Amino acid sequence: MADEHINGVIITFFSTASAVGKTLISINMASELAREGYSVCLADFDLQFGDIRNYLRLEPEYTITDLCDSIQADSSRPLTPLLTNYSYKGVTFQVIPNPSRLEEAYNLNPDTIIEILKNLRKQYDYIIVDTTSMFSVLNLALLDISTIVTFLGIVDFIPTIKNMKIGNDTLRTLNYDSNKIRLVLNRSDSKTHIQLKDVVDILGEDFYHILHNDFISASESITTGVPLVLNGQDSELTQELRALVARYTNKGYQPSSKPAQQKAGSWLSKLFR
Ligand SMILES: Nc1ncnc2c1ncn2[C@@H]1O[C@H](COP(=O)(O)OP(=O)(O)OP(=O)(O)O)[C@@H](O)[C@H]1O
Ligand SMILES: [Mg+2]
Repeated sequence: MADEHINGVIITFFSTASAVGKTLISINMASELAREGYSVCLADFDLQFGDIRNYLRLEPEYTITDLCDSIQADSSRPLTPLLTNYSYKGVTFQVIPNPSRLEEAYNLNPDTIIEILKNLRKQYDYIIVDTTSMFSVLNLALLDISTIVTFLGIVDFIPTIKNMKIGNDTLRTLNYDSNKIRLVLNRSDSKTHIQLKDVVDILGEDFYHILHNDFISASESITTGVPLVLNGQDSELTQELRALVARYTNKGYQPSSKPAQQKAGSWLSKLFR
């Protein structure tokens, strides 16, 4: 499959708050795509504090630092021998781990990282990119090169929602194709006094997809190092993750519901007028 295509699809996970599930969901998206037979590379571009190596129990020999060194020394040298393999019950994909030492992350050049993605997308059907929660030079370049940006949010505290609003508005000003940015809500029914409809009012648009809170399944997946979509348990969260992947690959696509109605009145929406 890899020889036939020119450019693989790059799906980036981005947010304006920490701990919203970027890493957990990007790992599950990579796993589900690999399970379906696609060639997949999962990149941990949370360079300083990346979690993919921990969540998947990897002990990488090489990291993004080695890929950057290699492509800078000789851009014709193949990069795939520097990737880390993840394999579980016959499902396999490759990972670009974040640097092993924090100070290495500081010295990596965003242009070189983008060059690596451009090189690897010729060899993979999908590249899934995990990021940090900020509009950094690297992240803006990643947003640009991505085919799809999953802007992930949770509904917990007012500052998180304020930052989600700023992030979503900022993404819209980047003038990408309207289909490129997908607003996804994670941990939707976690305990909070904030109503989902108020958040939709503030954002001015509906969520593209909603993933439920399932603390036990999520924690178990991290503890065991086995992604939810591969652990054979088929929880509600697993089904929602599979449905998200199906929508991204245009299988079983369901059009989103009507745009959010702007309703006046709630105390929370008044804060953001
Ligand atoms: N749908 C969910 N239900 C319950 N817990 C979840 C869910 N999604 C993620 N979590 C939990 O939330 C925590 C944060 O998830 P994760 O590390 O994927 O977030 P992140 O956005 O990558 O965070 P960071 O910004 O720190 O990198 C983890 O403990 C994870 O198990
Ligand atoms: Mg993370």
